Amino acid sequence: MIHMSKGIILRDMTEADIQSIHLAFTSNGWHKPAGLFPEYFEQKRAGKRDVIIAQLDGSIAGYVTIFWETEYEAFRQKGIPELKDLIVLVKYRRQGIATKLMDEAEKRISKRSKYSGLGVGLYRDYGNAQNMYAKRGYVPDGQGICYKYRELEPGQNVKLDDDLCLMMIKEL
Ligand SMILES: CC(C)(COP(=O)(O)OP(=O)(O)OC[C@H]1O[C@@H](n2cnc3c(N)ncnc32)[C@H](O)[C@@H]1OP(=O)(O)O)[C@@H](O)C(=O)NCCC(=O)NCCS
Repeated sequence: MIHMSKGIILRDMTEADIQSIHLAFTSNGWHKPAGLFPEYFEQKRAGKRDVIIAQLDGSIAGYVTIFWETEYEAFRQKGIPELKDLIVLVKYRRQGIATKLMDEAEKRISKRSKYSGLGVGLYRDYGNAQNMYAKRGYVPDGQGICYKYRELEPGQNVKLDDDLCLMMIKEL
């Protein structure tokens, strides 16, 4: 457990968090698929994913995960882990919580890889994250945008949803 400034605590996910994260998100009007947190916990137990939770004054405020073996081929080939599913509940935003989660995640990644990777969505809801990643030094990985991690051809029609991403990397 890492105690940060302003009452923020960062800690790794435990089995009890399968319920508590789900509850924190649903009670704040944010619906994540029912199977998501059990899957995260299983992957954590198998060493495939880190799940870092941020708490503020005892309440879950957000989390980020590190997927050590991403499905995205261009990262996978180079051994670049993927930061995935960064989120801070609306009422806890703009207090530096995502910054602390990212700092901790990048610190962990730097022990295993020279680069940190992530994908960001292209529509308005991702605006804050786009801004943050640019300020933190993430640059496009040079492969263009992708859909479900697959490269797209010019002229191809795609749906603007959470699977349409620009993949970015940062040298740590
Ligand atoms: C992106 C998100 C995690 C930021 O959380 P947060 O705890 O509010 O972020 P911080 O307070 O640490 O701010 C970090 C940076 O994010 C960006 N940012 C955060 N809120 C912003 C806003 N309302 N407008 C513009 N930029 C914003 C800024 O670059 C900010 O740095 P600054 O304070 O130096 O300007 C949060 O807005 C969120 O959960 N968004 C929805 C989920 C999402 O898009 N996740 C990313 C998936 S790829």
